[in-house]
Amino acid sequence: MCGIIGYIGNDEKKSILINGLRELEYRGYDSAGICVLENGELRNFKAVGKLVNLERKCEDFFFNGFGLGIGHTRWATHGKPTEVNAHPHFGHFSNVVHNGIIENYQSIKERLQTQGRTFLSQTDTEVIVHLFESHLETSTSVLEAFSQTIAELKGAYAILLITQKSPNTIYYAKNGSPLIIGKGEDKLGKEAIYFASSDAPLIGLANEVCYLEDGAVGACEVGGFHMLPKIKPLSGDKLSAQKDGFTFFMEKEIYEQHKVLLETMMGRVSEDSFSLEELNGLDFSEVESITLCACGTSYHAAIAGSYLLERIAKLKTKVEIASEFRYREPILRQKELFVVISQSGETADTLEALKLAKKAGLKTLGICNVDNSSIVRQSDFGLLTRAGIEKGVASTKAFATQVMVLWILANFIAQKCGILGKSEIQQQTKTMLEAVRTTKVDKKAHEHIKRLSRRYLHGHGFFFIGRDIFYPLALEGALKLKEISYLHAEGYPSGEMKHGPIALADSRLFCVALMPQNLLYDKIKSNVEELSARDATLCALSAEYYEGCDDWIKIPHTSHYMVEFFSMMVVLQIFALEVAVRLGNDVDMPRNLAKSVTVE
Ligand code: F6R
Repeated sequence: MCGIIGYIGNDEKKSILINGLRELEYRGYDSAGICVLENGELRNFKAVGKLVNLERKCEDFFFNGFGLGIGHTRWATHGKPTEVNAHPHFGHFSNVVHNGIIENYQSIKERLQTQGRTFLSQTDTEVIVHLFESHLETSTSVLEAFSQTIAELKGAYAILLITQKSPNTIYYAKNGSPLIIGKGEDKLGKEAIYFASSDAPLIGLANEVCYLEDGAVGACEVGGFHMLPKIKPLSGDKLSAQKDGFTFFMEKEIYEQHKVLLETMMGRVSEDSFSLEELNGLDFSEVESITLCACGTSYHAAIAGSYLLERIAKLKTKVEIASEFRYREPILRQKELFVVISQSGETADTLEALKLAKKAGLKTLGICNVDNSSIVRQSDFGLLTRAGIEKGVASTKAFATQVMVLWILANFIAQKCGILGKSEIQQQTKTMLEAVRTTKVDKKAHEHIKRLSRRYLHGHGFFFIGRDIFYPLALEGALKLKEISYLHAEGYPSGEMKHGPIALADSRLFCVALMPQNLLYDKIKSNVEELSARDATLCALSAEYYEGCDDWIKIPHTSHYMVEFFSMMVVLQIFALEVAVRLGNDVDMPRNLAKSVTVE
């Protein structure tokens, strides 16, 4: 969701800015723009749609001398995705880019309009630049005017502003949306300063970074980086963020799950014990219950985790959707461990839920894929999922690693509380390794799903059904499909069919049934039979052939339901991918979606 980039140095500005925005493309956007301050003159370019449109707009523009620029990919919130609404927004002598939402923009806008300032866009962002220029009329310095501007804003923001009045400096502010400043070297070997809303564009360019904290307001120019607080080295491998020969990042990410899951387990799971050093200092004898809180796919991982925590660690666990939790005045108990789960670590709803729990005095744990993200920084304890950068907007490997971390956590607690004996622990760790192995994609199995996918393009909708921990997997299968295929799909606990949804069953209803051999097989079989009797088109995922199905996707035989869980997860991801590819959709950047949802 919206991306920000900024640069000060001698390298060619346009390509630095557009390449930076390209690294942020995976977050989702519908328009983009850049502004470069070139020899005292502001050059502003914007375009609707993909970055190639912006590139076309400025194909004859290059600027190699010392200077600066800012860029932005916009995911529309206030006002349609038009060129006028795209960032940067400008006043008479300044340009601004912004991620987040300025909640009080309307009153500021009205006030500025009465002072004679003209607005071109429908956005909340445009008020920032006009407010700044208005403050500058009475301020003693540019930074003072910028700080006065920020002090008036309510809401969430990451802001970069450049102005002709101070041609060597980028002004920045952060509250609630991520913003990073980095330092590297330009082609002349001189210091260059980078700004970005995540570290992906900085990898390979900056060697030191500062993750700004909420409330940060300041100005940065060459030579000034070392004055920033908490500077850290930035390591990272650009290659890992490339597609490795796959057509889509999503496909590549599905294929690398068996590797990243091993990373997730590394140092945490050994043959006969579980260890989570990150939780040293967390006294589980003080924990009476767990609340898991998240959004979207991470919420599905949370539901899966709740089955594991109750079944293995015998801890009462409830699951909350973060956006609902925030506003319903929840009752929080001191002996409740509050766990937030987030791939990006920047999801606004999840972050606010975390703050609420902290304020109520609860111990908090963040399960997250991005180190140094807001959620990791603000949780008392953190467990990284170690999936590596996930670029496909539809989450795959991040989900797999979230479930794995929750499974490890359940075992770790059970071990700590003496619930699991040595042989049970050994059995669990063996099962985990088997589950990881089963996520290695078998090319033939992929081909089979690809062929089969052509039969699932024209129904009136999909039901994904499962029981127990296969219910959140059914939810996730349905979400994956709808995100990238734009077909209507719902996940249900299979026992719920008869309470209403079965009314939709006919031959044009596709039903994907998760039928594990090792968990409630007979129960789900009865539910599937009810659908089959009503002529629904059935695709069964199971180790044994089920005679009532129209299509069968074979899952390897195993003796544990979690191994079946992980095999089916991969099948559902590939199924969604292949249906979406057949429909000609942009799998990595589905319409209307963003990778990091930093607004409410
Ligand atoms: C779906 C997906 C989203 C996210 C949700 C929460 O594929 O990725 O549903 O799971 O927006 O995001 P995070 O996990 O970053 O908090």
